[in-house]
Amino acid sequence: MGCSCHDNDPLIPKVAVIKEMREDTHDVITFKIIDKDGNRPFDFLPGQCAMLSIPMIGEAIFSITSSPTEKEYIECSIKRCGKVTDYLHELEVGDEIGVRGPYGNNFPVEKIKQTDLLFIAGGIGLAPLRSVINYAMDNRSDYGLIDIVYGARTPNDLVHPKDIFEIWPKKLNTRVHLTVDIEHPDWSGAVGYVPTFVEALAFDINKTVLICGPPIMIKYTLQVLEEIGFKKEQIYTTLELKMKCGIGKCGRCNIGDKYVCKDGPVFRCDEITELPNEY
Ligand code: FES
Repeated sequence: MGCSCHDNDPLIPKVAVIKEMREDTHDVITFKIIDKDGNRPFDFLPGQCAMLSIPMIGEAIFSITSSPTEKEYIECSIKRCGKVTDYLHELEVGDEIGVRGPYGNNFPVEKIKQTDLLFIAGGIGLAPLRSVINYAMDNRSDYGLIDIVYGARTPNDLVHPKDIFEIWPKKLNTRVHLTVDIEHPDWSGAVGYVPTFVEALAFDINKTVLICGPPIMIKYTLQVLEEIGFKKEQIYTTLELKMKCGIGKCGRCNIGDKYVCKDGPVFRCDEITELPNEY
């Protein structure tokens, strides 16, 4: 007789199917994932994560980049950076993987309603923020002006190109500010690192800030924001790239006195006493 007690066990992966793979950059693919019945594998909120597993290979935790308002699937943007991600990149549409979740806490989308939103992302750090950006756009009257600052090393490293170049700039009360680290023949936009770019954009300080990217980018951008007059209480970040097991077992995600997987991955910046030096 089958045991139904496993049905809701968060440790048992569900079988999922890759519905679509979109190559965003040379090393980032966005996977659209559904369950065996063709439905979204689970409900979640912006900022939460999914654990993807491949039998005999391993598992890894990824932020969900689609918005919960997209009810038919979850999407994860995955950068090739090791055994599991290499393997995932070699899969094809229709292949099966394991999925479980959601993991971690979420961006406080209720609490920040009616504020202007300033998103600041570097590289693959746009992935978790995209979930909140699209959530806010799908609930547009709940949020004020939206500014999205996004930078990557080169134009070819900017993920979600369709969103940043085509979809978001056309949205109501939304501004997209892009920069790349170094000059490139195909780029006529801003050049420079994200913290310097944020400083030059001279935002007014009555905004909620949501930031994600490499630790060095976060560190210097926070310094700039504080110099401009933003308070740590206005700034949220996600440190999901620090998570490994995702369930408080491996002890590899602590930052000061916090465990990213149990206390985060989303933190208000006044809640953390230190930031990671690396992921
Ligand atoms: S990710 Fe393993 S203990 Fe937090």
